[in-house]
Amino acid sequence: MNCLSPSLLASDFARLGEQVVLLDEAGAQYVHIDVMDGNFVPSISMGLPVIKSIRPCSDRIFDVHLMIEEPVRYIDDFVDAGADLITVHTEACGHLDRTIEAIKETGVLAGAALNPATPLSVLDYILPKLDMVLLMSVNPGFGGQKYIPYTTEKIRDLKKKIDRSGQQIDIEVDGGVNLNNVREIMDAGANIIVAGTAVFKGDIRRNVESFLKIMEQ
Ligand code: DX5
Ligand code: ZN
Repeated sequence: MNCLSPSLLASDFARLGEQVVLLDEAGAQYVHIDVMDGNFVPSISMGLPVIKSIRPCSDRIFDVHLMIEEPVRYIDDFVDAGADLITVHTEACGHLDRTIEAIKETGVLAGAALNPATPLSVLDYILPKLDMVLLMSVNPGFGGQKYIPYTTEKIRDLKKKIDRSGQQIDIEVDGGVNLNNVREIMDAGANIIVAGTAVFKGDIRRNVESFLKIMEQ
């Protein structure tokens, strides 16, 4: 299924609850929550108490993107806070298999994220255990960056790999996605689209509706 996952990093934090409700009403199926630790990535964003406080605002899938070192330490806490899907970076896990197992044991969905330059071969053995692969299309750490063009080829290669495996694994693309490039990204094989700036800049409802319209085609 094709789903839009607006990234709250670009939202107005003073009106966070209201904006989460608005995304739901406009039809966005996921809510993308970027957690940064100032270590794996340079910035620090939001964490457990924020997720907990917006959980009652929406029944949509809380898609928690952990840009933190050794996320295995916090899996249970993010599940308790309200995550439905937890994605960890392959580059941030000393023991990726153990981390993915820890996520799955809690019953939520498990994703693995790859930085732009990380080769798909890191997924060779872990792929069957994943519900989703997140391909970063910018270097993680900040919203509002430009889409890295070689990502499109990487999405195509990942799609082939997943098709060959015969499994149903979602492909999420995150960073620099907008109304002008989303079609190309989906044609390459992505089905979960993260968009921060392109959703929150201007009229949020209209932006969500415009994305969903293109994504249906
Ligand atoms: C970057 C984050 C992204 C970011 C996307 O590290 O993972 O989710 O918020 O923002 P835009 O859509 O503005 O590139
Ligand atoms: Zn993200």
